[in-house]
Amino acid sequence: MQKARPKEPRKNTGAKAAPPAARILSPRRKTTEATTLHGLAVEQLEHFHIDPASPTGRPLLALAEKLYGAHGDVMELWAATTRELGRLPRQDRLALFNAKKFLSFQLAKLLDTLQNPARKTHQSLRYSNTTMLAKGPYPIFDNVTAIFSATPVITRTATYLYACSEWIDDAFQGREFLHEIYSRLMNPTSISLANHIVDIEAGPMAGEYMAWNFNSGMSAIDAALSHVVGYQDVVLASRNIYGGAYQLLHDWFGKRSNLDVAVIFFDGGTTADFTRALAGVKRTYAGRLAAGRHVYVYLESPCNPHGVFLDVPGIAKAAHAEQLKVLCDSTVGTPFLVRPLQRVDPAERPDYILHSYTKDLTGHGTTTAGVVIGRNEDMFLPKGDTTPDGKSWHDTLFWNVYYIKGAFLDADKAFEVLTGMKTLEPRMLQKCINTMVLARWLASNPLITVTGPANPGDPNFAIARRLSYLKLPAPLFTINFERAQLSRLTLARFFDSLAPMFGHMVSLGQSNTMVLCPALTSHSELGPEALREAGITPSTIRISVGDESARELIGDFLEAVRTAIDPVIPGFSGKFMPAADIDRMIDRIYADVHRRHAAAQPRFSACVKYTVRPH
Ligand SMILES: Cc1ncc(COP(=O)(O)O)c(C=O)c1O
Repeated sequence: MQKARPKEPRKNTGAKAAPPAARILSPRRKTTEATTLHGLAVEQLEHFHIDPASPTGRPLLALAEKLYGAHGDVMELWAATTRELGRLPRQDRLALFNAKKFLSFQLAKLLDTLQNPARKTHQSLRYSNTTMLAKGPYPIFDNVTAIFSATPVITRTATYLYACSEWIDDAFQGREFLHEIYSRLMNPTSISLANHIVDIEAGPMAGEYMAWNFNSGMSAIDAALSHVVGYQDVVLASRNIYGGAYQLLHDWFGKRSNLDVAVIFFDGGTTADFTRALAGVKRTYAGRLAAGRHVYVYLESPCNPHGVFLDVPGIAKAAHAEQLKVLCDSTVGTPFLVRPLQRVDPAERPDYILHSYTKDLTGHGTTTAGVVIGRNEDMFLPKGDTTPDGKSWHDTLFWNVYYIKGAFLDADKAFEVLTGMKTLEPRMLQKCINTMVLARWLASNPLITVTGPANPGDPNFAIARRLSYLKLPAPLFTINFERAQLSRLTLARFFDSLAPMFGHMVSLGQSNTMVLCPALTSHSELGPEALREAGITPSTIRISVGDESARELIGDFLEAVRTAIDPVIPGFSGKFMPAADIDRMIDRIYADVHRRHAAAQPRFSACVKYTVRPH
């Protein structure tokens, strides 16, 4: 057995002084007494019982010393990048990216080369087949090449290898991100998705935000609410929210034996509607507020089921002026239509954005998943840390909720969401076009009421145009037949003849168009009074619009009307706009939206800004 030398040489030998950053690579990063790179390398070999003077010890020592030095260079590169990036022309930023990408390949190559002797060493241990089978392949040997996978790797594991006790100690304190500990806490595929959604949602502000993924949209909503709302607080929520969120607030948070939270809903979507409701809340709950309880604002925009937009920036600003926290479920809009975190004025941004990935972000109804996005300091701090303004690590969503509750998103689902998100933009564009076509065609029949901002006559039209990308409506709206006074049976028979073009499925945001009756399904948690207040009648049908041909959607809807409604209300189907107008309308909307989309793209001059270097 190779013996380690008992002590490193401590006298000044002219060796390079160890920069403090180099210690981070040491297996004794917390307890090292080494002051030079050489000393760190010797200490490392000593830690693993290797004699630095032995034939295998000498190259190990030389490599370890170089790695300590290389770490200092990497830190210097990081510092220089942070300092210079903003000043560099785009051409140089591209060059820098590619140079660094190549460095990553070089480091991976070193690692891969290192695995050959490591594998040989492993083989030389000569375990029995029984042991080898039980342990499976040693992961580092095979996983190194996965660094080059063109899509994020699906890391299907509960546990992770760790380097040494001091590093794992740091990992448990949230100070070592390389070291996942356990997939319920962190998983590389899930982290990849969390980073990606932050980039998409927050854009230029991405550096200020962080995300945690959950197993469903509901568990994300539960996590965000659990994080902020406490005993006998007050939640002021927008009227139209998903029935499950209503039930969570009403039946769990509001329950006396749980948190006894007061849940108040406000109507309308303007800042004035909100401030009026807030004044009422302050009067009604003066006692609670005097006792130190807080008001939280919960918004859903565009909302389920009507696709109506709230003035989220205006409401957030008014709420922040009163030091209130704002949570906003942005599921229906997706970052294609609304980007509430990209407002220049931070006061206009909600504190937390929630998504059910289950819907349009993934896009095909193949998985359930959700996310909470918030400011870095509200989402995670290493254990023991406090921010200069007094925010403590245990007040972050990670330690307060995520770490404890276990509703994490597993790797397979995270991968599925990542794959779905690649086509978000073309899918949403097509769906929004279909929504405008369908909503306008349906509204052409005076016996059908269409709710949602797709039609110029809708009260929400102006606000949606102001806040939505390309002035587009969300691909979700409702219709009702109250004016036609259809009997329950006729309505049911009509609804049942809408398949297969209109899928009879709960959920929204899939590639296929789906219909449901909110009163019986998505919003069945609401009592009759709450349904009435939410604008949901017994004949309300919610349409979640897909990517199909708009003409075929209209065609099959018309057939269902002819089959089920015309026999009861003769001539009902004849009240829609004439066929020639349908073609004209579709062509006009299609061309108009695509023109707007084209015009919204950055000009070429912006893409190649500063390309020509001054000589
Ligand atoms: C707006 C909205 N938010 C959240 C959810 C809940 O998401 P999940 O079904 O992924 O739990 C839904 C579900 O329909 C929803 O419509």
